[in-house]
Amino acid sequence: MSDTATPNVIRREDYAPPAFLIDTVDLEFDLVPERTIVKSTLAVRRNPDAKHAAHLELLGEQLEFIGAAIDGQPWEQVRAHEHGLSIENVPDSFTLTLTGACDPAANTTLSGLYVSGGNFFTQCEAEGFRRITWFLDRPDVMSTYTVTLRADKTSYPVLLSNGNLIAEGDLPDGRHYAKWEDPFRKPSYLFALVAGKLVALEERIQSGSGKEKLLQVWVEPHDLDKTRHAMDSLIHSIRWDESRFGLELDLDRFMIVAVSDFNMGAMENKGLNIFNTKYVLANPETATDVDFANIEAVVGHEYFHNWTGNRVTCRDWFQLSLKEGLTVFRDQEFSAAMSGGDENEAARATKRIEDVRVLRQMQFAEDAGPMAHPVRPESYVEINNFYTMTVYEKGAEVVRMYQTLFGRDGFRKGMDLYFQRHDGQAVTCDDFRAAMADANGRDLAQFEGWYSQAGTPRVSVTTHYDAAAKRYSVTLAQGYANGSPAARETQKGPLLIPFAIGLIGPDGQDLPLKLEGESQGAQAGATTRVLEVTEKQQTFTFVDVEAKPLPSLLRNFSAPVIVEYDYGNDELAFLLAHDSDPFNRWEAGQRLATRELLALAARASAGQPLETSDALVQAFSRVLTDTSLSPSFRELALMLPSETYLAEQMAESDPAAVHAARQFVRKRLATALKAEWLAAYQANLTPGAYEPTPEAAGRRGLKNLALSYLSELDDPADAVRLATAQYDAANNMTDRAAALSALMNASAATGAGYAKNALEDFYARFEKEPLVIDKWFSLQATQRGTAQRPVIDTVRALMRHPAFNLKNPNRARSLIFSFCAANPAQFHAADGSGYAFWAEQVIALDAINPQVAARLARNLELWRRFTPTLRDKMRAALEQVAARVKSRDVREIVEKALA
Ligand code: TRP
Ligand code: ZN
Repeated sequence: MSDTATPNVIRREDYAPPAFLIDTVDLEFDLVPERTIVKSTLAVRRNPDAKHAAHLELLGEQLEFIGAAIDGQPWEQVRAHEHGLSIENVPDSFTLTLTGACDPAANTTLSGLYVSGGNFFTQCEAEGFRRITWFLDRPDVMSTYTVTLRADKTSYPVLLSNGNLIAEGDLPDGRHYAKWEDPFRKPSYLFALVAGKLVALEERIQSGSGKEKLLQVWVEPHDLDKTRHAMDSLIHSIRWDESRFGLELDLDRFMIVAVSDFNMGAMENKGLNIFNTKYVLANPETATDVDFANIEAVVGHEYFHNWTGNRVTCRDWFQLSLKEGLTVFRDQEFSAAMSGGDENEAARATKRIEDVRVLRQMQFAEDAGPMAHPVRPESYVEINNFYTMTVYEKGAEVVRMYQTLFGRDGFRKGMDLYFQRHDGQAVTCDDFRAAMADANGRDLAQFEGWYSQAGTPRVSVTTHYDAAAKRYSVTLAQGYANGSPAARETQKGPLLIPFAIGLIGPDGQDLPLKLEGESQGAQAGATTRVLEVTEKQQTFTFVDVEAKPLPSLLRNFSAPVIVEYDYGNDELAFLLAHDSDPFNRWEAGQRLATRELLALAARASAGQPLETSDALVQAFSRVLTDTSLSPSFRELALMLPSETYLAEQMAESDPAAVHAARQFVRKRLATALKAEWLAAYQANLTPGAYEPTPEAAGRRGLKNLALSYLSELDDPADAVRLATAQYDAANNMTDRAAALSALMNASAATGAGYAKNALEDFYARFEKEPLVIDKWFSLQATQRGTAQRPVIDTVRALMRHPAFNLKNPNRARSLIFSFCAANPAQFHAADGSGYAFWAEQVIALDAINPQVAARLARNLELWRRFTPTLRDKMRAALEQVAARVKSRDVREIVEKALA
């Protein structure tokens, strides 16, 4: 790629401390939708630890300059340019006053200050603050903020910013003001303001040390009936962080605000978290069990950032995983604890399985494509493109490995030392690793590889049993497959891999484990051992092994790697029936299913007829009828790997073949186990009032999975009858949406109109609930299509529906992203119609909201891995986009894809 094609590559190695520091920031806003005036007063001084600079270079974008003053005197030596302001020949220490204006009403990027639903909101991470006023908009410049908001009192009765409210009152001409002060130093990306017609659910609690705290969840008035769950989630988060990490809420007041127009999930602004409505609003009628769980996780995530992100922040954006990987790990542990207590391994496993499924489907794919990057990237063009699966999810796995190596207590010691050393600072991933190492008396130099190497490591395993000597040896070899060029560039020495292993005896029981050369009581009685792999190839020998065992490898997914081991089908069935590690039990079933599905996909690809053995049916039958397993575990174990994941496992991705194979197996499982599915449906009804508890959600999940399988039958009469009754009687969205989906599936298979009435009813019933209408769009975008009724036709018709709105990211995602990313068989239609649609929408979104456009642009990045006909059409669509788009965000993506 030439330098002109991709301008302004930012490199980690170029980091330099800022030439100036800003100790205090005083902001005054006169909020008017079309022209908001911002006056900023900054206490500036030279940074003693940086090279001397004559000029102060401030970043600013899309701002109208009105005036500047230094120490109260107008300053003429100001040069306005494309990227901001140069304040020239400044003294060593001074007060700088800047006045400017911006246009929130015209801001469709949803970065900076913008208007949504008539109210004002901000989004500053990563680089939005510079769209509000000129600043050293980088995370290592930390300041204390005082903020005064002035606005019309009727239109904007509520005025919020970070920290504590210190004054409020009326002004002439029907206006009013509020003044907020945040006592904690923070980087500009954590600044926030909100102004508008909002109401709050309030609760007062006492924090661990007995201090009174005011908690608020702010929403539009008609949404107040959907705030209870978010409030409960917040209270649970506060309690969990106190008990697990000894971390207390440090402000007197903590606010969550919901906004419909939002680029991502939520934002951890100090004391004033701003959330996508999708991750706040829930009641049984409008939100599914998955929504309830997601809200709990995201509320937790943002709350946990108060310590991991805000009190200790990032030195630069290359360190993003310092806060995101760590905070995802924390929210995962929190959700696991909420779903069954901190100590219940079986309940925790469900959450673990869900997280690993996301990692493997999304992050492993990222690692195999042109956007592959290490957890701590070396360079970027647009930082918004690096809020990735790798930084978040693989980053969380890297943090989890410290806990796997040192145990929960050792991990806690490392966290304590991290805060002891770095509270109030902007630091690096190396600082976190050093705290973990020092607190546990370990040298973790080798562990740096997890931050610096891109790509998914593979561990291939060979085993040998010496019956006479009763020795069992396990040889582990680590390396990388031929991944993307981007990944190969960074791959260096062997990694330190914590590899958890168990050995299962012929009776299905775990064997006691003793490593060669180990004294008797080393870890007496332990049946899982974490092997520390540090070499390219290494052999571990277990002694006193009485019978030839079956290895249970990488228990609980102890490292983000691919394990290669040649299990037989019968061995996988055995593990699925007996492994004491619930994660690996699930894993065995998935391996079995994947093997079968890939063999079928290969046949479909070659135009051969599909036929399958009974191995999978028998294994699934045992799981389905084993009532000693929790419903939620059975649901996960009986779900087939996704079409996207399967296509990625093929030498050349063929979505149509994968779809045919997966549908074939679904129908086979439905037919062979019809009686069992019907029984599971009846056995898992949840009569009475809706409860979003893990137990009830698990039952609904298994029941609705049964319904979904039954809808695959050639004669779907049972499914249609059950689903119609379930739709009509439902007292919750989980059951209603699942019933509708089953009806749509039965219709697709048979061409009948079973779903017509329910689909119309669904719209009419929830017309005033945008988040439910999102579900209505998304159900249709992801539905099964047939040759006679391709889904692209439905999607194009829905683009013209009066409720469709490209400017609202949730709505755009519900229709466009759902079709392009979650309906692979239809999106990858052989005629290229999906790609043409994709190109149109990327170009349209690019002009409105580059961040959202760039997310959609990534949907074609794996184009080289597809079959030749698809590949050519994908490349053509990418080239069309590359020629037309303007934003740095989308250009980085398509140029890297085509390079
Ligand atoms: N820091 C946020 C989180 O992970 C995510 C975030 C980053 C974000 N940039 C954003 C959210 C832009 C909205 C818009 O919790
Ligand atoms: Zn985060």
